[in-house]
Amino acid sequence: MEGNLKPPTENSFGIESIVSAAHSNQLANQAGALADYIPELAAVDPNRFGIALATVDGKLVTAGDADHHFTIQSVSKAFVYCLALELVGRDAVLKRVGVEPSGDAFNAIVFDPHTNRPFNPMVNAGAITVAGIVRDVAGAGAFEMMLDRLSGAAGRRLTMDESVYKSEAETGHRNRAIGHLLRNVGALQGPVDEVVDLYFRQCSILVTATDLARMGATLANIGENPTTGRQVFELTAVRNTLAVMFTCGTYDFSGSWAYDVGIPAKSGVGGGICGVVNRQLGIGTYSPRLDTKGNSIRGVAAFRELGDELGLHVFDCSNVGSTYMRSFLD
Ligand code: DON
Repeated sequence: MEGNLKPPTENSFGIESIVSAAHSNQLANQAGALADYIPELAAVDPNRFGIALATVDGKLVTAGDADHHFTIQSVSKAFVYCLALELVGRDAVLKRVGVEPSGDAFNAIVFDPHTNRPFNPMVNAGAITVAGIVRDVAGAGAFEMMLDRLSGAAGRRLTMDESVYKSEAETGHRNRAIGHLLRNVGALQGPVDEVVDLYFRQCSILVTATDLARMGATLANIGENPTTGRQVFELTAVRNTLAVMFTCGTYDFSGSWAYDVGIPAKSGVGGGICGVVNRQLGIGTYSPRLDTKGNSIRGVAAFRELGDELGLHVFDCSNVGSTYMRSFLD
């Protein structure tokens, strides 16, 4: 994974052909396995593969099954965290959930030994706490509030997959156990079953790779959806969210991801990955075969290729940086 050290030439810099090549180069890759601990996730078509890239000026480039619907799962954690920061403020959120990479699996039953809080909002313990924060503020309207924000980021009205929700609600005892431990350490205040149910619902929201790209582009565009013009998230909440996506968004793979891909991102066991190139674009990928850490194998490979080809790594010398800053320099 060497960065793209050559300045792009006219012939090599067609975004359409680069996205299309990232898709065709991974299409035959059948490595990995579907998540099956949520029974309904084991029933999806393993061969689907879509990539979408949405820029902050509204351009959309797609390849493959970019409009195929799947459940957002853990990708929701980034957006709900952004919402919680806005609802109660950074300090109140930090009192209940940290921002340190855990180095553990997404569903690990472990808290930061120094603080007794969940390590970060991208692992299940942290995300269930964040759902609890939204529930504390919005009560019975919490799911609708989440759905409204995620829909605003995608630029269309999203819906929930009832059968995946029921499947996780029937089998999600590990998350319930985490919920009760969170209640025990004081990170959760409300009724545990209702908070965990809310978390299962947020994970069951249906999206496409195109939605994830547009949601990423909304974060890249400091919270304003580039297509609809709606200000969906506050600027400071977006900055804090991108920081934890960068350091914790792919769980115990986050260090390798930062090293090789270098884009704030969030993965989900449904097979989606959402990446954000600040002030430039969002990327969404969908392919449901996962590695042992719960990340989409073709998705990770596609991100690596797009990052290299387009010079998107945050520390790549060919990443020309913020279009906002450039507008002052040009
Ligand atoms: O809590 C769970 O187990 C799922 N609803 C979400 C986990 C997930 O997506 C982890 N991501 N890779």
